[in-house]
Amino acid sequence: MSSHGDPIPMISAKSGPLSGVANVPGDKSISHRSLILGAMAVGETTITGLLEGQDVLDTAKAMRAFGAEVTDHGGGKWSVHGVGVGGFAEPDQVIDCGNSGTGVRLLMGAMATCDISVTFTGDASLNKRPMARVTDPLALFGCQSVGRSGGRLPMTLVGAPEPVPARYVVPVPSAQVKSAVLLAGLNAPGQTVVIEAEATRDHTERMLAGFGAEISTEVTDEGRVITLTGQPELRPQHIDVPRDPSSAAFPVCAALIVPGSDVLVPSIGLNPTRAGLFTTLREMGADLTYENERTEGGEPVADLRARFSPDLKGITVPAERAASMIDEYPVLSVVACFASGVTDMPGVKELRVKESDRIDAMAVGLRAAGVEVEDGPDWWRVTGLGHGNVPGGALCASHLDHRIAMAFLVMGMASNAPMSVDDGGPIATSFPIFEPLMAQLGAAVSRA
Ligand code: S3P
Repeated sequence: MSSHGDPIPMISAKSGPLSGVANVPGDKSISHRSLILGAMAVGETTITGLLEGQDVLDTAKAMRAFGAEVTDHGGGKWSVHGVGVGGFAEPDQVIDCGNSGTGVRLLMGAMATCDISVTFTGDASLNKRPMARVTDPLALFGCQSVGRSGGRLPMTLVGAPEPVPARYVVPVPSAQVKSAVLLAGLNAPGQTVVIEAEATRDHTERMLAGFGAEISTEVTDEGRVITLTGQPELRPQHIDVPRDPSSAAFPVCAALIVPGSDVLVPSIGLNPTRAGLFTTLREMGADLTYENERTEGGEPVADLRARFSPDLKGITVPAERAASMIDEYPVLSVVACFASGVTDMPGVKELRVKESDRIDAMAVGLRAAGVEVEDGPDWWRVTGLGHGNVPGGALCASHLDHRIAMAFLVMGMASNAPMSVDDGGPIATSFPIFEPLMAQLGAAVSRA
């Protein structure tokens, strides 16, 4: 079942050369944060290029329920009239975050130090995912929570009426956990300190600084030590959301494996905490170049040009790179099928607790499509067959996971027999224009 309606079966088949320009939507991580920080500022934040995917729309709806005025002006232009740090009202309904782990975890952090109670729920995928990783550190601020067994949604959080600041060493590489603690720290007096051993995406830190919070990051032997001074008055901003590298991954990877392709994907953020896939693909021998490299809004940006790459080779992806490409492993595993040799992907335990168990979801589908895959608790390995030798021809379960659905559909564009997914509905959470955009490049992808 798709998250918001009946399942949408989809199919893709061997495609002619892909060519043209792929304008992918706005960054999902930055879109959520724009709405949430806008709601915590005093005055009106304006946003252009917001991702209008279901995950972000659910966060917009939640921010309205917390008392912010959120307006859709059309064409990706939005405004948020914020209520100030500590100014959230208690929603009178359950907050449904749909499929979005980022949405629910960031919202939990943002309300944890306000004197309100909020009940959160989500779809069947989100309600299976671990929330204790967020509610444990939020308890340090004085926030209480009760949910289902295993720390799962639906869950009610009772915000701390008199919050105290926290010092927290994040035990898993998770930008969502780090961000939840920082957002909670905003309404606690004094200094909140978050320490991460491995660098994860740093959009929250960058944006908090942009909104005028006092925040600093120091790299020490313990890792990145982030210190935030609580109870600032956040100044409203204009945010131009960059295009999402995690969405760019799909047309880029499709171009690398479909013979004759040449695709330009403009204005993609290459923040080092997000760009691990592109480094990996280049190491595999991909014809992937960065054109017109520049800085926009403090972030490195380039136009990506991806061309068919006949000599891809399997590599070992360094474990320490995992956080910078965590959402891209499903589509990387598809590229690995078309490479020669083995692609080893160690240090990826977090893949097991995403919208689905992404190692399992991909391994089952790739095996059904004739590819050898081995996996363990925190690693997996794909044995490549090389161009022209990938059988395909499988019907795969997307498990309510947008990236699983898109990865298998990319595979079908180059495998010998078509690939089908039982439900492409979840694609709308992050990349609502995936099907028309890929079709316009020349991909044979459609609803089955
Ligand atoms: C995100 C962080 C990552 C990522 C997710 C978006 C964010 O999750 O997988 O799609 O915006 O902070 P984790 O924090 O669980 O690694």
